[in-house]
Amino acid sequence: MTKVILSGCCGKMGAAVTNAVNGRDDIKIVAGVDIMECLTMPYPVFPTFDELPFKADVIIDFSSPSALTGLLEYAVNNNTPSVLCATGYSEEHIKAVEKASEKVAMFRSGNMSLGINLISELAKAAAKVLGQSFDVEIVEAHHNLKLDAPSGTALMLEKAVEEGLDYAPELVYDRHDRSQKRDKHEIGIHSVRGGTIVGEHEIIFAGNDEVVKISHQALSKNVFAAGAVNAAIYMKDKKSGMYDMSDVIKAQN
Ligand SMILES: NC(=O)c1ccc[n+]([C@@H]2O[C@H](COP(=O)([O-])OP(=O)(O)OC[C@H]3O[C@@H](n4cnc5c(N)ncnc54)[C@H](O)[C@@H]3O)[C@@H](O)[C@H]2O)c1
Repeated sequence: MTKVILSGCCGKMGAAVTNAVNGRDDIKIVAGVDIMECLTMPYPVFPTFDELPFKADVIIDFSSPSALTGLLEYAVNNNTPSVLCATGYSEEHIKAVEKASEKVAMFRSGNMSLGINLISELAKAAAKVLGQSFDVEIVEAHHNLKLDAPSGTALMLEKAVEEGLDYAPELVYDRHDRSQKRDKHEIGIHSVRGGTIVGEHEIIFAGNDEVVKISHQALSKNVFAAGAVNAAIYMKDKKSGMYDMSDVIKAQN
């Protein structure tokens, strides 16, 4: 049995994770942390990590970068491996996670779905073959409540493409502020926000007279919740260090 503290439990993903563990006997949410009040959760909810009166095996975080400092302090002090799923982290946030990972196991992924982690590998392989002669652009679309742009997943896919290239690309976010021809070594990243779109990502390799597109569409938030639950079970008792979805997929196959 993996005992979980769910950070951001009152949000949309918090509700999806709460549903995903409902009725399972291998994982249980023992407490939630959220600055909002939600009275209907089947576990106690605390406004900050400071106020948590007990320990758990793993933290799952679907809150916001603003919760990170308190979370890392708790994770290090209580040796609690953490599955960080929130997006919008700054360079400083990422450095703080890496520093904490020297003492306690930290898992981070901009996208918890199996499909996105697969297309990330495909994008890297495609970049190795096409990257020299094709232009690469990434387009993502999300619902109108999303705070950060581009999405953490678009940035994760860009990093995968970059691993397949033998040059460091210049990242161009939208193109409204430039009137010039596209440079060969650019990767354009574009964000669409509207309605209830759960999450769409497309990597476009545009060459002379042919275009290769690798795309993924999440049809419900449940795919992210299921990925977070699998990651939490995997992270229980892990040694200090950084982990990601590829570790979970390797362990399952
Ligand atoms: N990695 C993935 O696969 C994945 C998938 C979906 C969403 N996300 C990310 O997860 C996060 C949450 O998404 P959501 O759609 O559930 O958002 P949401 O706004 O519905 O929920 C966020 C919750 O976190 C709480 N919160 C915010 N700041 C907090 C703080 N400092 N301390 C404690 N609680 C705090 C809010 O009160 C809210 O209940 C976002 O960053 C989103 O981009 C990641």
